[in-house]
Amino acid sequence: MVRHFLTGEELAQDELSALLDRALELKAGRNSGEGANALAGRSIALVFEKPSTRTRVSFEVGVAELGGTPLILRGDELQLSRGESVGDTARVLSRYVHAIVVRAGSHDVVAELADGATVPVINGLTPEHHPCQSLADLLTLHERFGDLDGVRVAYVGDGNNVARSLAVVGGVAGVELRVASPGGYRIEPGLAALDTDDPREAADGADAIYTDVWVSMGDEAEAKRRRADLARFQVNAELLAAASERAIVLHCLPAHPGEEITEDVLYGERSAVWDQAENRLHAQKALLELLVR
Ligand code: CP
Ligand code: NVA
Repeated sequence: MVRHFLTGEELAQDELSALLDRALELKAGRNSGEGANALAGRSIALVFEKPSTRTRVSFEVGVAELGGTPLILRGDELQLSRGESVGDTARVLSRYVHAIVVRAGSHDVVAELADGATVPVINGLTPEHHPCQSLADLLTLHERFGDLDGVRVAYVGDGNNVARSLAVVGGVAGVELRVASPGGYRIEPGLAALDTDDPREAADGADAIYTDVWVSMGDEAEAKRRRADLARFQVNAELLAAASERAIVLHCLPAHPGEEITEDVLYGERSAVWDQAENRLHAQKALLELLVR
């Protein structure tokens, strides 16, 4: 049966744990060609309706390193942009390629694509979910702290796609997620271990402090209001001082230094964001190995 990866809930705890270990093997063996034939003879469509640096490049490079052929398809280049249905696009792409990675402006598009496809569909970001990002987040935490069960992560800022996926996928791994967001910017109740509007409460003793942009793709019309509402939720040296001595700083990027994170923290010695960005590659290679037949 074809397996999709749309919200991250599709992976059981043991599969997630095996995937992260495999990602570490792929990372360690990258220069010696570990996994080099996993996607031999396979083509993977990478559909992007929105801009991307990390997701696009890490998937394109990852597919190539696994011996497959990546096909970058911009939404506006497909007949989808001229009214061809998502279902028909899914049916046709499934006759050519062995998996579809898609970044879309609506989660319904990704869900509909998965409904129509007979090959795995991987969510490369929607306004609601960003599960591939969470795999890299967990891989970075696993590298630094080993066992993820009980690792305390404070997410401070907009309760957006990145926060929601971290709660969902981190929950599978046993991560203790605390989210600090203002009213109106919260993820759904019960998804995180702690839900607060006090960044200090979330950061207290945490092993990692995580933030993301205040203005996500699609939120541009509300930019001014968002910056004002989220101003108190900046990740800075003072907030970091409330975390554990071993705490690292995470950000999915792109960052806006001076807004959601200060420059000293983003580029400081506790920052793990560049490893986190690199880990997109290794985690997604492990995901492709798991899903693509
Ligand atoms: N973190 C992330 O998904 O980055 P891109 O938007 O550059 O893909
Ligand atoms: N929350 C951000 C993440 C970008 C990787 C957005 O959706 O634009």
